[in-house]
Order: sequence, then structure tokens, then C-alpha cells
Amino acid sequence: MKPEVLQLNAILIPSINEQLNALYTMRRLFEQEDKDSYIREFGRNIQGVITGGHTGISNALMDQLPSLKIVAVNGVGTDAVDLNYARARGIPVTATIGALTEDVADLAIGLLIATCRGICSGDRFVRDGQWPVKPQPSAIPLARRFSGMRVGIVGMGRVGRAIATRAAAFGCPIRYTDLHAMDDLPYTFVAGLKELASQSDALILAAAADKAEGIVNAEILQALGKDGFLINIARGRLVNEPDLVQALAAGRIAGAGLDVFVDEPNVPPALLKMDNVALQAHRASATWETRTAMGEMVLASIAQALAGERPTASLTT
Ligand code: DGY
Repeated sequence: MKPEVLQLNAILIPSINEQLNALYTMRRLFEQEDKDSYIREFGRNIQGVITGGHTGISNALMDQLPSLKIVAVNGVGTDAVDLNYARARGIPVTATIGALTEDVADLAIGLLIATCRGICSGDRFVRDGQWPVKPQPSAIPLARRFSGMRVGIVGMGRVGRAIATRAAAFGCPIRYTDLHAMDDLPYTFVAGLKELASQSDALILAAAADKAEGIVNAEILQALGKDGFLINIARGRLVNEPDLVQALAAGRIAGAGLDVFVDEPNVPPALLKMDNVALQAHRASATWETRTAMGEMVLASIAQALAGERPTASLTT
């Protein structure tokens, strides 16, 4: 009999699904209407769980899976899994660390350019047939240059570093904040977030959200200033969203590029009407290349755990 694996989110790469189907009896919870009774029926035999970084798994669900041998996060963020709880139960929690880095960094730069150059609002202007109606150049406000912008990065892990490399190639001076300065980096370390914001034209959030909820609040946005842009490709909860909406509405910052939100898939309605905001549906890792690499890592981790080995990507065992 094939081992049973519970899948909490869809995987969009057919070859990964084919391999999962070939190796395991897949229990796809996300397809079920009545999830509680599905878990009651099948939970006892589940040996592996596949979940997304944003979805994670609750302790209550882990408790309903007495045969659980691995939680494989198909993502890099583990803030939605109680790692200490899993550790105490001896359950390896793995993540696809390293697989997403380049794509997430690409989207951060893409969102910044989209925002400061008004690419989304310009697209809407052309698409809505406004150009022939208002052919004078003044119909669209002048944009802001990205090349050479002072970029401040919050969180200098893999993604933060990849963003820095890209921004540096555009001639941007880079400052960053993290728990401590990093000797191997040629960029300027700034200890305080407020100080970093006040020295940046663009503040890019690339930090883990575990202990950093709401760190970007009205005070930080005020320090970023009316010419400053905020980019978030990490987690929505790093930002105090009502403060951000107010700052944008009052022109206290120049714009924002956001891939993540506090209550996904719900986006604060006020943001939808703002031309100086570029929005994405939490898609920083959503390319064929990255999702394939992530799926391969998930497969490898589950195979290791179910063979009784410690998964190489385990963060808890
Ligand atoms: C991640 O991998 O953490 C992504 O943000 C998806 O949740």
C-alpha cells in the first residue's frame, strides 16, 4: 500500500503531481467541501503533509495526524507553522529554501519599477482608450527614475541579498537593516528601521514575519517620506495596513508595490483605487521554473522522511 500524503494547497506543475500520484495516495484536502469529516476519515493514516508557506498547518491539525512523519512546506516562509511544536513532536518541517530566491527578487524589482514608473496606471490609461481622448503629454504625471534610487532593504537573507545585487546593477546605493551587520556585504548597515526609511527612496521588505508584525507603521512611513516607495514581497503582516492606506491616501509616501497582504486574498478596497499602487496576488514564486524546483524539493523531503531518514531540508530535526 502506498503511504498517504495530505495536501493542503494545489500544486500547479503537472509533472510534480504525476510523481506524487505515482508514489503516494494523495489526500487533497483543498478539494474537499467538508474538510473536518475528511480529516476524521483519513487523518489516522496520513504520513506526510504538503502545505504552502502562507497556509502552513495548525497545531490542531497536526494533532489529528498521529502517523505524521513530515510537514513539507512548498514555500520558503515557515511563519504559519509552529516550529517549536513540531520540534517537540519530533516532526521534521522542511521548506524549499533557496528555490524561490531569484524569482522573488525579480518581482521586488519589477514592483518597484512598476510603481515608480507608473507602469500599471499607464497600462490602464492606454487600455481604457484614454490616450486619444487626452493626447497631451500632461495627461499622465511624470514618473520617477529607478536607476540610482537609494534602496533600503529590510532583511538581508537570501532574498534581500538577491534584491541588493539587482538594485546595485541599476546603480542604486544599498542600505539594509537586519539583526546585525554582515561582514561579507559591501552595503551600508543601518541598525534602526526608522533611520533606514529616512535614508531610502525605496524601502523593500524581505524579512521573515515571525517576530516583526506591523513593524512598518505610520512612523516608519513618515520617515520614508512623500517621495518614498514601499515594496513588500515578504509577508503582509510586516506592515500596519491601515497606516499604509492612510499614508498613501494623504500623500505621505509616493507609492507602494505589494505582492502580499494581511488578510489574503482580501486587499484593502482603498488600495484598488490608487494609481500609485501596483498590486499582485502573492505570486512572487509563481513561475514554471521556480515552482518546478520547489516541487522537486518537496518530493525529495517526503521521500527522505518516509524512508526514515532526516530530510536534508529539515528545520526542526
Ligand atoms: C513563501 O514561500 O513563503 C511564499 O510567500 C508563499 O507563501
